[in-house]
Amino acid sequence: MFTDDNRARARDIVAQYPRARSAIMPLAYLAQDQHGWLPPEAIPEIAEFCGVSAAEVQGTVSFYTMFKRRPCGRLVVSVCTNVTCLVVGGPEILEHLEVKYASDDDVTVEEVECLAACGNAPSMQVNYEFHERLTPEVAEAIVEDYKAGRLAARTVSGTPQ
Ligand code: FES
Repeated sequence: MFTDDNRARARDIVAQYPRARSAIMPLAYLAQDQHGWLPPEAIPEIAEFCGVSAAEVQGTVSFYTMFKRRPCGRLVVSVCTNVTCLVVGGPEILEHLEVKYASDDDVTVEEVECLAACGNAPSMQVNYEFHERLTPEVAEAIVEDYKAGRLAARTVSGTPQ
C-alpha cells in the first residue's frame, strides 16, 4: 500500500523510536496522507513495520477519530456542537454545511466534540486548521475559500503539504 517513497519514510520514522511499536500512529498518519483516508489494507502493513499484530494497529486507529476509516473528501470540516458552541450556533452551522455539501465529494462535514476553542465559539476546523466566531454564512465562505484555493488546505491529517 505504501509507495516506495513512503516505505522509505516509514523505515526512517520507525528508526526514530526506541521501540518500533511507538510508530503506529505516525505510520497511520503517513498512510492517511498518502490515500486521503486510512484504508483497511494499510493496517497489516503498518503492523509489519511496527512488529505488532494487525489487531493492535486496528485497536489504536479505531480509538482516534482523526483516523478516517472511510473515504472522505479532500476537505474535512469538523464542526463543534459541544456545550459552548451549542448555545451560540454550532448546530445551525453544522446543519447549514451538511445541507450545502451533501452531494459534494470534495467536502466531508463531521460533528465533533469540544475543539478547545470555546473562548471564540462557535468553532470549526478545516483539515485541523481552526476557524472561530462563525456564523453559517461565514463558515460556508471559509469552506468555499479552501475549495477555490484562496486558503491553503493541509492534508486530511493536518500535515502541511
Ligand atoms: S465547545 Fe466548541 S470549542 Fe469548546
